Amino acid sequence: MTYCLCFLALICSPTSNTTIDQFAAIEGLPDPFLFNDGHRVASSDDWKARRAEIIELISRYEYGHVPPTPGNVAVDAPLESGTRFANASTFQSLRLKFGPDQSLSTTVHLYLPKNAPRPLTVILRFGLGGEHAQAANERGYAFVCFDQTSLDPDTEGHDEVGPAQAAYPDHDWASVAVWAWCASRVLDYMETLTDIDTAKSVITGHSRTGKAAILAGALDERFALVVPNGSGCGGASTFRNPPKGVETLELITRATRFKSWFHTDFGKFGDAEERLPFDQHFMRALVAPRPLLSTDAYGDQWCNPPGTQAAWQGAQPVYDFLGVSANNMIHFREGGHDQLAPDFEVLLKVADHFLKGAALETDYQHAPFPRVPAPFSWKAP
Ligand code: GCU
Repeated sequence: MTYCLCFLALICSPTSNTTIDQFAAIEGLPDPFLFNDGHRVASSDDWKARRAEIIELISRYEYGHVPPTPGNVAVDAPLESGTRFANASTFQSLRLKFGPDQSLSTTVHLYLPKNAPRPLTVILRFGLGGEHAQAANERGYAFVCFDQTSLDPDTEGHDEVGPAQAAYPDHDWASVAVWAWCASRVLDYMETLTDIDTAKSVITGHSRTGKAAILAGALDERFALVVPNGSGCGGASTFRNPPKGVETLELITRATRFKSWFHTDFGKFGDAEERLPFDQHFMRALVAPRPLLSTDAYGDQWCNPPGTQAAWQGAQPVYDFLGVSANNMIHFREGGHDQLAPDFEVLLKVADHFLKGAALETDYQHAPFPRVPAPFSWKAP
């Protein structure tokens, strides 16, 4: 136990020079209820304290630390307004400014259904493409998408200090964290609009922005429903024991690939995932008790489907402990890597239920690989 306590004190010291030998290997998924000092969560207040420790762990080693809410989001410039979907929706494009001296900016597109009762429940999605805006509007949801890359460019094989990192030089945040922070700034702006009910907001994104969506939902408790799609490695699937053919921690953090998405220390755990003091089920646990739905595809091998099941299983005891077992949801469809209309339809059904009180016909709590055992033996306290 003494060794354990020293070790845990070491891993949680933000000033330590991280070398992989400092971390004991953990067989199976780490226990999210175990505090850094070795004692276990026993009450919901304990869980709040443990949740804060987990935020520090994933910030220190995986994504970097995000700055506090700047509290100064404002419209910099309206860019365009009009209608969409045969005049059924209004469309607005505008630029927001925020951050130190309001020096940061991002473009936001708002699609609002004209005939739905106000205030509207809002779905936020990363990227300006507008995919699924019509489906959302037709079901009475506001749909808001934004350009997260204006805060940090999306680079492969090299790093660029993006505007957000330049504006906050004392922060060690990497791209995924910058993008997640961008979603929160768009939500700050939504809070100023009388047409929108931000107490009922959904955050979603696909693939790399699915990783940003789960991080945004983990860090910002205002997101009422969190829906990472095809997020895989660094998103909703675990790193430990990767099956053949999946994206591993070592692959994603290569300098020639996406090292710049993650904290500079994260790549040290490449081919040594078992030494990570957490795994991605901790990300799902951070969202609890709020509902979380991961949507994925059986044919999307690169995204590690069994690892997504493992993360879902590893978060379930936390949802059980908090008395909201049904809020931890998983869905797999046939096919490949995309956020397709059927994926979005599942999001809408779950949003209708959790945010608008509609009945849910399916519970989205069935293991996609029922014969694969859960890779841990600890239980909820
Ligand atoms: C690459 C990367 C994935 C990422 C994907 C995407 O395939 O390896 O981690 O999710 O790009 O964002 O499209």
